[in-house]
Amino acid sequence: MAEDWPDRRITDLFGIELPILQAPMAGAQGSALTVAVSNAGGLGALPCAMLSVEQVRAELSAIRKATLRPFALNFFCHRPPVFDAERDTEWRARMAPYYAEMGIDLAAIPAAASRRPFDEAACDLVEQIGSTVVSFHFGLPEERLLERVRATGAKVVSSATTVSEARWLEERGCDAIIAQGAEAGGHRGRVRGRRGATASAR
Ligand SMILES: Cc1cc2nc3c(=O)[nH]c(=O)nc-3n(C[C@H](O)[C@H](O)[C@H](O)COP(=O)(O)O)c2cc1C
Repeated sequence: MAEDWPDRRITDLFGIELPILQAPMAGAQGSALTVAVSNAGGLGALPCAMLSVEQVRAELSAIRKATLRPFALNFFCHRPPVFDAERDTEWRARMAPYYAEMGIDLAAIPAAASRRPFDEAACDLVEQIGSTVVSFHFGLPEERLLERVRATGAKVVSSATTVSEARWLEERGCDAIIAQGAEAGGHRGRVRGRRGATASAR
């Protein structure tokens, strides 16, 4: 099948057999899916936004034991929101009937932000492990960190939700751009285009 695919730019760029990139899903998958996709010939991805540096290390060690193929490390680049107690109470009250319907304990949902943006510690880790692909969600890290990622030789990828975001990523030297669909599993975050807009994620 791979040899039937006419455009080899993506497969050559990432050193993979099939032109399939696994969508990273923080909180919904771990290294098992990454390994399965990479071993099947696509580009598996490990979402790191909800993992501590130690947890990423443990997942990496599991991946390395199970595959020698390329995979992507994936990070968020959002601005963490400032906790607003009034807003928190309001959305909890509004969502309560739906949580009850689904049998989810609303009290178990943390009030504080649980997604970490790409930072110094994550960048240190990327430098230490020398990942082949680093993908970002909700934009790109600040230039200083991005430069360090590039210097490792990793291919840099990020997701765009509009043409103007794609151009912005291209201007900043992304090796590939993921065009996110209109729904994106409820995980679509427009990061550019609106005045002062920066993605925010909990
Ligand atoms: C539960 C869930 C978690 C997600 N977490 C991440 C993530 O950690 N990093 C990321 O880059 N994208 C994340 N996404 C977005 C997906 O990777 C993907 O872009 C999205 O599902 C859109 O795919 P589509 O454009 O092919 O429909 C998540 C999506 C879902 C549904």
